[in-house]
Amino acid sequence: MILTHQELIRIALEVRENAYVPYSRFKVGAALLGVSGKVYTGCNVECASYGGTNCAERTAIFKAVSEGERSFTAIAVVGDPKAYTFPCGICRQVMVEFGRSLEIIVAKNADDYRVYSMDDILPHSFTPDDLENSCQEGAHTHDL
Ligand code: THU
Repeated sequence: MILTHQELIRIALEVRENAYVPYSRFKVGAALLGVSGKVYTGCNVECASYGGTNCAERTAIFKAVSEGERSFTAIAVVGDPKAYTFPCGICRQVMVEFGRSLEIIVAKNADDYRVYSMDDILPHSFTPDDLENSCQEGAHTHDL
């Protein structure tokens, strides 16, 4: 990895401060490392219509993909400084879409963190390969 785990966590901590969380007051920051070496940051952005809320991890991933990068090596996530904040189920599914070999760094702070694989946090996942291997007509992910 080009950046150390600690460096990526520090970036996630910094962007955590931008979280827009008037409803939950629960700030989350994420820092996503692309294979290019570029880092994409994200925070959670809440909405008065609660379902419109976007998690920090997905903010970072969507920013990266919209800027043209689709492969990632690691993501650092910092939520509650007193407990490890794990990515929600929806974020895990979006992560596996773009980072089968992604390292997930779940941190309380830069000195207290754990590292997981995608398979640890989302075993037996449904991935683009499942569509690729299907014999349904018109289901070809390479056409996308
Ligand atoms: N949240 C994240 O941003 N990432 C996670 O991994 C867990 C949950 C946000 C969504 C919402 O703004 C707040 O935390 C409380 O659910």
